[in-house]
Amino acid sequence: MSHSSLLIHDIGTIWQYDPQASLTWRAGEGMRSIQSLEDAWILCEGDRISAVGQMDSCPDHQGPRLDAGGRHILPTWVDSHTHLVFARTREEEFRYRLEGMSYEEIARRGGGILNSAYRLRETPEDQLLEDAARRLHEVIRTGTGAIEIKSGYGLTLDSEMKMLRVIRRLRDQSPIPIRATLLAAHALPREYQDDREGYIRLIIDDILPRVADEGLADYVDAFCEKAFFQPDEMDRILEAGSRYGLKGKVHTNQFTSIGGIQTAIRRGALSVDHLEIATEADMGDLLDSGVYPVLLPSAPFFLRDHYPPARTMIDRGLGVALASDFNPGTSPSGNLPLVIALACTQMRMLPEEAIHAATINGACTLEWEDRLGSVAPGKLANLILTPAVQSPAYYPYSFGSDWVEKVILNGKEFISKT
Ligand code: NIG
Ligand code: FE
Repeated sequence: MSHSSLLIHDIGTIWQYDPQASLTWRAGEGMRSIQSLEDAWILCEGDRISAVGQMDSCPDHQGPRLDAGGRHILPTWVDSHTHLVFARTREEEFRYRLEGMSYEEIARRGGGILNSAYRLRETPEDQLLEDAARRLHEVIRTGTGAIEIKSGYGLTLDSEMKMLRVIRRLRDQSPIPIRATLLAAHALPREYQDDREGYIRLIIDDILPRVADEGLADYVDAFCEKAFFQPDEMDRILEAGSRYGLKGKVHTNQFTSIGGIQTAIRRGALSVDHLEIATEADMGDLLDSGVYPVLLPSAPFFLRDHYPPARTMIDRGLGVALASDFNPGTSPSGNLPLVIALACTQMRMLPEEAIHAATINGACTLEWEDRLGSVAPGKLANLILTPAVQSPAYYPYSFGSDWVEKVILNGKEFISKT
């Protein structure tokens, strides 16, 4: 066989072990425990895990070996919601907020998303790619092994296309799988301040068909919020997306509950993301809707805002995914270990729940549960090596300390910090 192989042996514990590769969306009480395997080995062939077992049956492998020396293994994170491609950081707005101005007030004054859009239009494509590639490498170092990236800082046909081309070029050179989402309905651009209908028409009649024609997006998104797009506007965009086979992954209920969740459910969206403001009725509607809730706790952390009611959601039987929302305005970090710590300390998720949310549930929200999100034969060999821990609670507990010692991607050691 010409492809490479790697045997990882003397693993103390594999967390999120999935012997039959049968794991799917976990919800409610199903999030409370994770399967593990002690004293184990993993054989990688090509970019896949080919077999997993215990040391008493360790294969006599002639090729490359990695001695885990009793260390533990996790699957890499699936970060299902980011805005990784952007032109410039916005720390001046951070300062305004610390001085008392609200996020929505900054947006009304032309800061926020419009500020990023203005900068992005001026920035050459190669520069955007170089910056995004650097950020991608940075998040891989914290254990991210698959990622979704949105457009939405272009807000013209040309600039949205430019962003999506950057995402495609990044995907072509990336060691980890990338999904692309069209988020033209992120904010109303300055040129359309007095012509909302004109911008919605631009998205539906021009941007969506072009993007679909060039195969530049996997999903479509809209920011459903009082000060951004209304549920009926998002509804039209989701309907138009479905004509091109693009499912919805929408921003909703970040600041207000105005019916975005219900619209997304009616349109058969894949996920509803944010949910800082989720009412009892919203949670009731989500139960059995088949639409995945995605929570982004680093955004309320950074905005000093409400956290989503994750505890209530899970206690009511819902499942959730966790993602970083990496973006220059509300979460300038793509650090999933930090997101997991925030999920536990600020939303009272249990460590096992947070691990499910950032691995298998994240994979489901990108329709990648067949290849990511657990340590299973047949799945991509994307793995994190950590110190030996007493329980998975150590990971969120030791927030801020860097316990991602090595990252294995596609069956090869990609990052080693030791
Ligand atoms: O997910 N909420 C809308 N979009 C981003 C923020 C974008 C920005 O401020 O640049 C978010 O939080
Ligand atoms: Fe976002």
